Amino acid sequence: MATQAAAREIAAVGVIGAGQMGSGIAQLAAAAGCGVLLLDSDPAALSRAVASISSSLRRLVAKGQLSQVACEHSIERIKCVSSVQELRDVDLVIEAIVESEDIKKKLFVELDKITKPSAILASNTSSISVTRLASATNRPCQVIGMHFFNPPPIMKLVEIIRGADTSEEVFAKVKSFSEGLGKTVICSQDFPGFIVNRILMPMINEAFWTLYTGVATKEDIDTGMKLGTNHPMGPLQLADFIGLDVCLSVLRVLHNGLGDSKYSPCPLLVQYVDAGRLGKKRGQGVYSYETRSSSVKPRSSL
Ligand code: NAI
Repeated sequence: MATQAAAREIAAVGVIGAGQMGSGIAQLAAAAGCGVLLLDSDPAALSRAVASISSSLRRLVAKGQLSQVACEHSIERIKCVSSVQELRDVDLVIEAIVESEDIKKKLFVELDKITKPSAILASNTSSISVTRLASATNRPCQVIGMHFFNPPPIMKLVEIIRGADTSEEVFAKVKSFSEGLGKTVICSQDFPGFIVNRILMPMINEAFWTLYTGVATKEDIDTGMKLGTNHPMGPLQLADFIGLDVCLSVLRVLHNGLGDSKYSPCPLLVQYVDAGRLGKKRGQGVYSYETRSSSVKPRSSL
């Protein structure tokens, strides 16, 4: 569970991107006692984030895992903002916008100009080089990867990525902050895919190839991996939960960065993304989802 100590070390946090990941990260930081400024370029994403954070915290109250007062205080600590300028006083920025190096770099250039000199700039990127994001700023020793997993309030892991110039002090602060959020920390050097996605994404890609080449149905592929390898969900369902666009971006980073054709994305994955079938967040991916509710079960769509 989150501790007040984490909140004391880093008291004010800016979260940029209020999608699947940013909303969960904002919830975690607020529950740890931090003041949170949540920014998104899409006002509708902010409204959805506030609704999903409130319902997630209220579920914890219903289960007896959070007091009503702590729930209300956490909600009050999150303020939605519409401009990067409003992040000028935060101690830590966690960026969770779209997985595009160009767009992230532009944001880091802007953040470097407006945040206070001591602020740490973290990216929740799944695969993009932290070193290259850092080199877009004048404070590369204060730029770091802070990779949460989906959904952030539930998943226990934070993978911290040290860029080539990330300082020991910044690493120690971010590690302690992450542990204060109740997370277990692993540390990766800055190479494409880091630890988890370097291993996971080729498996997801292979599941798409298995479907694409008609080896088996999606249900049998997922059931095979669940029951045959003791995974809690199959790779195709997991890809839907992560977002097929995110999976494709990560595979392209692995392919370009490591130069091995084994990372080349399966054409079926590319086609689903081209068709806007981005997974659970869009109601349609490998499977169809009836609602956006987190309790939704996949049902067959092909
Ligand atoms: P998402 O598509 O749910 O949310 C992204 C949000 O960023 C959207 O609300 C969009 O309006 C906003 N946005 C885009 N450009 C912006 C900008 N320039 N300024 C402000 N807001 C902007 O994406 P998701 O899944 O939350 O992923 C976000 C990041 O987290 C990506 O880098 C992704 O690779 C990473 N990630 C995703 C995981 C997943 O399972 N989906 C797991 C771990 C990391």
